[in-house]
Formats: sequence, C-alpha cells, structure tokens
Amino acid sequence: MKHIYNAFIVAMLGLCLANVSLAGGDAAAGKNKVASCGACHGNDGNSLIPANPKLAGQGEKYLLKQLNDIQRGDREIALMVGQLDKLSEQDLADIAAFYAAQTQTKSAAQEQLVELGREMYRNGNHERGIASCMGCHGPAGAGNAPAGYPMIAGQHADYIAVQLRHFSVGTRTNDGEGKTMRGIAERMNENEIQAVASYVAGLRD
Ligand code: HEC
Ligand code: HEC
Repeated sequence: MKHIYNAFIVAMLGLCLANVSLAGGDAAAGKNKVASCGACHGNDGNSLIPANPKLAGQGEKYLLKQLNDIQRGDREIALMVGQLDKLSEQDLADIAAFYAAQTQTKSAAQEQLVELGREMYRNGNHERGIASCMGCHGPAGAGNAPAGYPMIAGQHADYIAVQLRHFSVGTRTNDGEGKTMRGIAERMNENEIQAVASYVAGLRD
C-alpha cells in the first residue's frame, strides 16, 4: 500500500511542478531574451516591415502557441529557422509575456477597400459558407486572449493577407484539427482577402 501512496505523492508533485511551468511568463525576464528578434519584429514588437507581424499587445496564449508551433516546425517560417532552437519552454513563456505587455502601434485601412472589408469582417458570406470574422476575432478585432484567438486589429495588412493565403493553400496548417482558418480562407477570393486584410489593419480595439 505504502508504495502506491508514495507513487501518488510523486505523481501529484509532478502535476504541481508541471503547473508551475505553465503558470505563465515573466515579461521583465522576456525583455532580455528578445535581442535577436528586434531586427525583424521591432524592439517593442511593433515591426515596421509590413510582411513581418507586429507582436506588441498580442494575446499571450496565442503568442506562446505560435512560438511552440514554430519551434517544433508545425508552423514553418523560413526566416525564423534556428531562431528558437536554443530557447526553453520558460524562455518562450517569458517572451510571450513580454510582447503581450507592449502597446501596439496602429495601422490604417485603404478607403476604397473599407466597404467590402467591413462586409466580410462583420457578416462573412453565408451562401459560400464563410463565417464572419467578428464571431471569433471580436467586434473590434481584439481577439479573445483567454481562448487564444489572436488580435488582428492594427496588424499589417500585408501580413494578414499572406496568412489568409497560407491558410487557403495549406502552407499554414496550425489552426487545429477543425481547420477553422483553412476552411474559411479557402472559400475567399483574392479581392476579399485584400479587402478584409486592409479593413482589419484599420480596426481599433
Ligand atoms: C529574419 C527575420 C525574423 C527574425 C530574426 C525573427 N522573426 Fe519572427 N517572424 C518573422 C516573419 C517573416 C514571420 C511571419 C512569417 C509568415 O508570413 O508566416 C514571423 C512570425 C513570428 C511569430 C508569429 C506571429 C503571429 O502573429 O502569428 C512570432 C510569435 C514570432 N515571429 C516571434 C519571434 C521571436 C520571439 C523572435 C526572436 C527570438 C523572432 N520572431 C525572430 C521574421 C523573423
Ligand atoms: C471560428 C473562429 C474563427 C473565425 C470565424 C475566424 N477566425 Fe481567424 N483565427 C481563429 C483562430 C483560433 C486563429 C489562430 C489559429 C492558430 O492557433 O494558429 C485564427 C487566426 C487568424 C489569423 C492569423 C493571425 C496571425 O497573427 O497570424 C488571421 C489573419 C485570421 N485568423 C483572420 C481571420 C479573418 C479575416 C476571418 C474572417 C474572414 C477569420 N479569421 C475568421 C479563429 C477564427
């Protein structure tokens, strides 16, 4: 009996330790771990390059999932090969906490694309089975941080459009078994992708 009891204690301890490492990152520690990221993503996560995503103010849970996916190769990013290789789970959590705590600088929409962009964002297209973006990314694009739905408001339109194309052709597949984003993006045409990407860039959360 005693050894079963001991095994139980060890298992519980293991669970507690696992919880400690899942307890979240330390933004202050993360600040010292992002030196190599700044050239592409900006020192505070506000990338100035339209093809590179802004990370500032993004949800912590979403960021950590992406970092894990990129590190494992489940999301392939040619420019980031090797970048995360030497980082521990705690490093990634600290980095996610750091970027989540930064303030995002805003982008703007192109006026001529607003009408179609707004329509796609708010209503999707029922006949063609395109769900409204608002349903998951929120009325103002802020996402849902606890659920891990990314903030897309204020993001570079170029980056957003590239992600939609990646989901559409299946070169980004880390949206889960349900293929949530692949299922939506593959039904969108290029005009709709560009319009919604521009609209989202101009949203203020
Ligand atoms: C040489 C440029 C470069 C460097 C250095 C770089 N990245 Fe990236 N990163 C990119 C690009 C480009 C993408 C988007 C690629 C795509 O189109 O999917 C990206 C995507 C990401 C994403 C996904 C964001 C999202 O909204 O889904 C995260 C998180 C990220 N990088 C974190 C980091 C961190 C942390 C570092 C430093 C340890 C780093 N990157 C270094 C270029 C870079
Ligand atoms: C059913 C929920 C749902 C709907 C509807 C939805 N999304 Fe998403 N979207 C998600 C989730 C969840 C992710 C994160 C996937 C992952 O973990 O990589 C995501 C990711 C994204 C990304 C990648 C963000 C980044 O930083 O790389 C973009 C861009 C995006 N969605 C745009 C849209 C647009 C535009 C629409 C409407 C046409 C839309 N989404 C509709 C749930 C949804």
